[in-house]
Amino acid sequence: MGVFSRVLGIIVLVFVAFQFIPYGKEKTNPKADKALEIKAPENVMKLFKRSCYDCHSNETKWPWWSYVAPASWSIYDDVINGRKTLNFSTWKNYTLKKQQKLKKEIYRTVAGPMPLPQYIWLHKNAKLTGNEIRTIRDWASDGKGFIKTNVR
Ligand code: HEC
Repeated sequence: MGVFSRVLGIIVLVFVAFQFIPYGKEKTNPKADKALEIKAPENVMKLFKRSCYDCHSNETKWPWWSYVAPASWSIYDDVINGRKTLNFSTWKNYTLKKQQKLKKEIYRTVAGPMPLPQYIWLHKNAKLTGNEIRTIRDWASDGKGFIKTNVR
């Protein structure tokens, strides 16, 4: 057996071994009361559902590759941390003050880091156009279209 096939064999074995590591296996969508879900105008909701809900709601669609390690570990982390930071499914559990703060964060992040680039890479249609960013920002700024985000 040549060196190349040995190395390949080891890589395959490691990959197979990864699949037995239990971390991130439990892909759950906690039940949420629809009454607690965020209520935004339909055009805004459509964007949240298309580009944010997989990580920021309890209605995550787990793709097949989210079951394959090592990808599964990082996808699992993104969803758990995403929900922890902002969960549209339980929005009404937040205090008004917290909701205002999150809206500010949404305003700030939609033009840059959100949705996460590794997500867009595999979900091309999650990318927001300039107009869609404006739509979300209008909502997040309560129709003012602009909020200062550097003061917190
Ligand atoms: C692939 C998963 C994923 C998607 C899709 C995604 N997010 Fe996030 N988002 C995260 C994670 C993970 C964090 C938490 C980062 C951390 O731990 O600080 C986060 C954090 C945030 C925060 C908090 C920012 C901060 O600085 O604390 C906001 C606001 C946010 N996301 C909004 C959105 C919006 C709006 C969308 C859709 C346009 C979106 N996200 C799409 C994973 C995602």
